[in-house]
Amino acid sequence: MSVIQIGAFIHGRQVLPKSAPLFESLNPATAEPIAQVLRGGAAEVDEAVQSAARAFASKEWRRMAAADRGRLLLKISEKIRAHADELARLESTDVGKPLAQAANDVRNAGRYFEYFGGLADKIHGDVIPVRWGVTDYTQREPYGVSAQIIPWNFPLAMGCRGIAPALAAGNCVVAKPAELASLSIVRLAELCKEAGLMDGVFNVVPGYGAEAGAALTRHKLVSHITFTGSVRTGTDVMQAAAVGARPVVLELGGKSPTVVFDDADLDRAADMIVQSLRVNAGQTCNACTRLLAHDTIADALLARVRERFERLRMADPLTNPDLGPMISDPQRQKLRGYLDQAGKDGARITMHGQGPDDSRLARGYFQRVAVIEGLPHAHPAYQEEIFGPVLSVARFRELEEAVALANDSKYGLVASVWTRDVARSMEMIQRLEAGQVYVNGWGTGGSVEVPFGGYKQSGLGREKGIDGLLHYTQIKSVSIYYG
Ligand code: NAI
Ligand code: MG
Repeated sequence: MSVIQIGAFIHGRQVLPKSAPLFESLNPATAEPIAQVLRGGAAEVDEAVQSAARAFASKEWRRMAAADRGRLLLKISEKIRAHADELARLESTDVGKPLAQAANDVRNAGRYFEYFGGLADKIHGDVIPVRWGVTDYTQREPYGVSAQIIPWNFPLAMGCRGIAPALAAGNCVVAKPAELASLSIVRLAELCKEAGLMDGVFNVVPGYGAEAGAALTRHKLVSHITFTGSVRTGTDVMQAAAVGARPVVLELGGKSPTVVFDDADLDRAADMIVQSLRVNAGQTCNACTRLLAHDTIADALLARVRERFERLRMADPLTNPDLGPMISDPQRQKLRGYLDQAGKDGARITMHGQGPDDSRLARGYFQRVAVIEGLPHAHPAYQEEIFGPVLSVARFRELEEAVALANDSKYGLVASVWTRDVARSMEMIQRLEAGQVYVNGWGTGGSVEVPFGGYKQSGLGREKGIDGLLHYTQIKSVSIYYG
């Protein structure tokens, strides 16, 4: 792929001034640049937010019938589908994810616009009976300019997870993609315009978090902020949002437990653990990164897990290998730092899978899978989000111990339970501190309909589903006196 130049997308066109500062976007499989991207700052952010605010105030947008807004979103969904191959190759090359996974993300992106497009004309309030002579009712209204701070692990899918419901509810959007992978979101903005979306309704400003990101979250005309990323940056975003008392939706990752009891189907559990750490090279918020195994089956389960990890082959993401590279060298160094510390502190660490044998990929950020055992559960390798192909293992004997270990985390995103005993699974469901609990499985197959979000420091608010949509609306209560 030749190096392309990518600008911001503001008021319906690409903006790339001749003298503008640029940064490189790399292909993580080769460490070679694939694009030079505008390093947006306060000026571009201001232009984009002003454009979104004008579009929001325009009669054309404000008075558009909800059904027409929904139809526009369905057209965007069709556009995404029509460009699925192109978008999947772009995402695969920019993020380093195997092509089939990128294609799956693109399908998901299309589904968000389809699902929320279908909901656009079903956002309504209630009539509340209070007393004779007064009619009280509620209506749900958009906030205005929605800021979307997007991470690099699923740029297109997570971008659409927030952009589609924001638009469905009638907001206008300014998105800031992550500096490590911004290409697909800028392309999405072009496709939205081709689908007929009015200029200014959806704008994109690429750039660094501390520059474009901070300028966006601080902008006075932004009235709602959606963020996915680290707890640390999420906390900064929430502090920025506190000025002006603006609402936030935060999705901040996890350290998710997989609790496997002695009566579980070990083959299926092993399949799902390996699958969850293979997707996006373990750089997913809901990966099963903590395995809590019953003492009597732990060895048998780990043998199955190791055997599956061992079979994973790494290669150029476009050839659709089992495992792609990590996103960047700093992310890989962060992971290796955790492994080094765990090793020094006495962990048993085994490494699995086969790196690429293609010399073109020698500088890529590939990383073999690690299994860590034998440390106290308070160790950072068991407590912190490493964000890569690393599985930390602990053992338990009693249900009480499993519950205590599973909940011994500042995070609470997902948890999975493996047992054939219904009463035991029901007890675990009640006691696990997590926004999502999976029983004898993992994930929801990428469904856009099921609310997703975190307990504890894993986040605030929900995305996906009707609950996700309602976060992009505020309630106006109306009382009409006629008596
Ligand atoms: P990050 O949280 O700093 O970045 C996420 C997004 O926030 C990017 O678009 C970034 O440009 C933007 N950002 C950064 N600083 C900002 C600021 N001050 N104001 C507004 N926006 C800002 O995460 P980073 O550095 O990319 O990765 C570090 C760790 O974060 C990972 O190792 C992982 O643990 C976690 N993470 C979790 C994700 C998830 O899906 N929950 C996604 C990405 C990262
Ligand atoms: Mg990249």
